[in-house]
Amino acid sequence: MKMNQKLETELNENIPKHVAIIMDGNGRWAQKRFMPRVAGHKRGMEVVKTITKSASKLGVKVLTLYAFSTENWKRPQDEVSFLMKLPITFFNKFVPELIEEGVQVRVTGDIDGLPQATQDAVRKAIEDTAQGTKMILNFALNYGSRDEITKMVQSIAQAVNTKQLDVDKIDEQVIENHLQTNFLGELSNPDVLIRTSGEERISNFLLWQIAYSELVFTDTLWPDFDEKIFIEMIKEYQKRDRRFGAIKK
Ligand code: FPP
Repeated sequence: MKMNQKLETELNENIPKHVAIIMDGNGRWAQKRFMPRVAGHKRGMEVVKTITKSASKLGVKVLTLYAFSTENWKRPQDEVSFLMKLPITFFNKFVPELIEEGVQVRVTGDIDGLPQATQDAVRKAIEDTAQGTKMILNFALNYGSRDEITKMVQSIAQAVNTKQLDVDKIDEQVIENHLQTNFLGELSNPDVLIRTSGEERISNFLLWQIAYSELVFTDTLWPDFDEKIFIEMIKEYQKRDRRFGAIKK
């Protein structure tokens, strides 16, 4: 029996439908090796492919990856420009495999704020993989939760202003309808949020959506992350007792 098969058999049926990952530690991984920070991002891109395949194989339905935040523009120009080219490289290289795997690419975040070439690559990947039904690979790109919430409030206020919506009718569902994850429907909220690299914070990621997500952390840096550690983390999730504010029957 191959190692991965053995690991998978240790998992129970309770596979999280929506897994979100904060892929942290690329810079430190590179610096430890006296390499430029972008070398860590490059390696991180390969890990994205590995984990996408692994998640799809396990039966995950949505994999949301935090690839670039609205705050990442504050990084040095060289690094920002490298990070903006990564989706282009990734899609050029892997879209055929994603199509083969039945993976559908989507993006959460402000696509219009990306450089034109990145926008074009993203839109093409979304179009080329639109028939995929096995799993959604959702890149959070130029995404920030406070930005998303601000836009949600503006859009609801606008609907109230133009009398399309009554203030009394604003409820949690209306709010979810105006968030950028709305297209995921009942899978909008991650079951589990993973963060690599030993940092234990949320960094403006899916603040509304993770209200009841299980948070799982590992010290492993993202470029060292692999299927074995991924499965260990899913096992950790499976040990948790999710009550959603209720008590156990
Ligand atoms: C955080 O590590 C990582 C990022 C800001 C970028 C994440 C991007 C990838 C993993 C590649 C994405 C691939 C595609 C296809 C878009 P860090 O740089 O903050 O690490 P550090 O905390 O060690 O400095």
